[in-house]
Amino acid sequence: MSDLKILGIASGKGGVGKTTISTNLAVALAQAGHQVMLFDGDLGMANAQLALGIQADYNFSHVINGEKTLKEIIVRGPAGVYVVPGASGIGHMANLSTAELQGVIQSFSEFDQPLDYLIVDVAAGISPAVTTFLKACHQTLVVVRDEPSSIADAYGIIKVLATEHNYRHIGLIPNGVPDQRSGQLLFQRLNAVCVKFLGLDLEYTYSVESDETVLEAARKYQPVMTYSPGSMASRDFRKLAKELDLIPVPEHDAGGLQFFVERMLKTEAEAKNG
Ligand SMILES: Nc1ncnc2c1ncn2[C@@H]1O[C@H](COP(=O)(O)OP(=O)(O)OP(=O)(O)O)[C@@H](O)[C@H]1O
Ligand SMILES: [Mg+2]
Repeated sequence: MSDLKILGIASGKGGVGKTTISTNLAVALAQAGHQVMLFDGDLGMANAQLALGIQADYNFSHVINGEKTLKEIIVRGPAGVYVVPGASGIGHMANLSTAELQGVIQSFSEFDQPLDYLIVDVAAGISPAVTTFLKACHQTLVVVRDEPSSIADAYGIIKVLATEHNYRHIGLIPNGVPDQRSGQLLFQRLNAVCVKFLGLDLEYTYSVESDETVLEAARKYQPVMTYSPGSMASRDFRKLAKELDLIPVPEHDAGGLQFFVERMLKTEAEAKNG
């Protein structure tokens, strides 16, 4: 079995397509035969569940307060994706007691199903909760649209990750572009700025084209991958999944689900201690 690969889906500006990409990428990877978990890290929004048309009685806050185990809050989505419903409590992990932290770690290590992918849909921007999640990910994928404010804010989050957090495993997913060529050009423009000012080469993945079917699917509370598998967007998500599968997990970073939560808690502890 391959190692778990942990991907964070981020953006500078809100509303650019993080949840659309997280959910559809999760389904695309699952349909390609991978075991996939989707973690809704967008505080209190319950976005990912809505986008997948599933309803959850419990969320991650119940794991933090010890009422439930991770296994008990997980719901299965389309193509068997394991969905961890988000919680507003997660931003305050640094304030948890040692016993609570141990409980969270324990809960993650008890999840004994084999997993190939963990996809984390984080909130927009670069709050401490966002950096905590992203630093625990092997690769962060910044979703960007071809609009000045989206590009500026994407550069902003990349700069903070690279310079303040020394985190450099960053890729781009251009979204809502008219064609692949436009997506590649958008990547080249932003990457040139990152190379020049941050000494950082971004990973190009694949672009998701603008497709009305995505909106239709969203209105039906379905991922476009199941709503319309033959759509242009679904084709892009399948290609994106393939490209991401080619990015190797850094060897020193390998490890299961419990390493994700341990890395997350380590980041929080560092922040707490100055
Ligand atoms: N490729 C696309 N083609 C057409 N519409 C899209 C595409 N990607 C996203 N959308 C639409 O754009 C809107 C915003 O997408 P989404 O909710 O995924 O963004 P987000 O980054 O998760 O937002 P937030 O920051 O609020 O969490 C939704 O209505 C979604 O259906
Ligand atoms: Mg979202």
